[in-house]
Amino acid sequence: MCDVCQDLVDPKETKLAELLAGYAGQKGALIPVLQKAQEIYGYLPADVLRRVGRGLKIPVARVYGVATFYAQFRLTPMGRNVLRVCLGTACHVRGGAKVLETIEQELGVKDGGTTEDQRFTLEIVACIGACGLAPTMMINDQVHGRLTPDKVGGILAQYE
Ligand code: FES
Repeated sequence: MCDVCQDLVDPKETKLAELLAGYAGQKGALIPVLQKAQEIYGYLPADVLRRVGRGLKIPVARVYGVATFYAQFRLTPMGRNVLRVCLGTACHVRGGAKVLETIEQELGVKDGGTTEDQRFTLEIVACIGACGLAPTMMINDQVHGRLTPDKVGGILAQYE
């Protein structure tokens, strides 16, 4: 391929092609390939699932079946901010469920969902290791603790 053509090729496409070539003909390749494809794209678009099927010579229906069965795989893009609400024991007993309910109402999404404007992806987690600050949530890498439902709106407003 010439330099000009190379520049026109999406580097993700190139990585996916290399990935599929590296696993061609190997047994048990589907899950590791899906994991790596998700690392490349951030999620698993339909077109990528079809290409994985073709590349590994596996029926696309089976690729979809595996991608939808395992919670680790995402078929939709993540939001710009990942909001993890803790419902571990410490957070639960200190009102985490009410905090979650408020967040769900503010964002209009449930666990695993992404807002239509792609601003947030909401996930429920079991513990973020900050039990002393319960109830907690984490937005990207930042921990927010001692939450109450009325604090939620102001915190969410800090994220574009
Ligand atoms: S239980 Fe919520 S931070 Fe540990």
